Amino acid sequence: MTDKLQQQASVPPRGTRRPAPGPKWLATDIYTLSHLQPPSAPNHSILHSTLENSNNQDLPPIYSSRAFAKFLALQAKAVNARHCLEVGTLGAFASIWLASVNEELKITTLEFDHKHAEVARENIDNAGMAGRITVIEGPAIETLPTVLADIEAGKLDKFDMVYVDADKENNWNYFDAAVKGCRRGAVVIVDNVVQGGLIASQDEATDKQHHVEGAKTVIENAGKDERVSATVLQTVGEGSHDGFLYAVVL
Ligand SMILES: C[S@@+](CC[C@H](N)C(=O)[O-])C[C@H]1O[C@@H](n2cnc3c(N)ncnc32)[C@H](O)[C@@H]1O
Repeated sequence: MTDKLQQQASVPPRGTRRPAPGPKWLATDIYTLSHLQPPSAPNHSILHSTLENSNNQDLPPIYSSRAFAKFLALQAKAVNARHCLEVGTLGAFASIWLASVNEELKITTLEFDHKHAEVARENIDNAGMAGRITVIEGPAIETLPTVLADIEAGKLDKFDMVYVDADKENNWNYFDAAVKGCRRGAVVIVDNVVQGGLIASQDEATDKQHHVEGAKTVIENAGKDERVSATVLQTVGEGSHDGFLYAVVL
């Protein structure tokens, strides 16, 4: 069932770091996307090529789910974003999604894996977005301060939106630093903070305990952080049971 639905979706199967998504969750995404993001959508072909090229070059299929990537793009539209930060580029699927429906948007995206950065640049070039999406290579903990320094020096606009989707252990470090570069009213989204519910379960062992701890740290610290107001929404669908932290900079 799941494989058949995945074929209908006509994209490479997404990786699952946790148990595979339930067939009804996947079917629901496919149904809603068929109406809200059909193959006739203007950006469909470039997004499809981005995933195809990433898959052909053996990038891990851990890109944001299509419905979630569209949610991010709509958020960027809702806050009239001119400059977004993404931590964790992979093949630039989410970045290309955001830029494809927000014509004035510039994105700075941070990636430490050389091959991922190369494929991302190739996908960005193919999408004709090299002038708007900048991939900065290196560990984000080192490259993010250089972006903040450019904002401080007036060389870059403040962030209107931030998407954190990289090494989960550093969730809080990225969040804390990125908020310093945000304008008031900016939105900060941290993906994968529910971890199949393991953040609230005391007794289940997991080999991804560092992901669980990274999720809990950003939730607990954001709750005490007077710079933001935040909530967590759980998600199911192509991406299995997870969720994201959504914060607004006050
Ligand atoms: C889940 S993928 C990002 C998916 C992408 N946001 C999308 O939706 O298409 C996570 C990416 O973060 C990168 N990454 C992991 N640790 C990192 C670090 N310390 N600094 C920068 N990037 C890192 C990985 O190499 C990987 O490409």
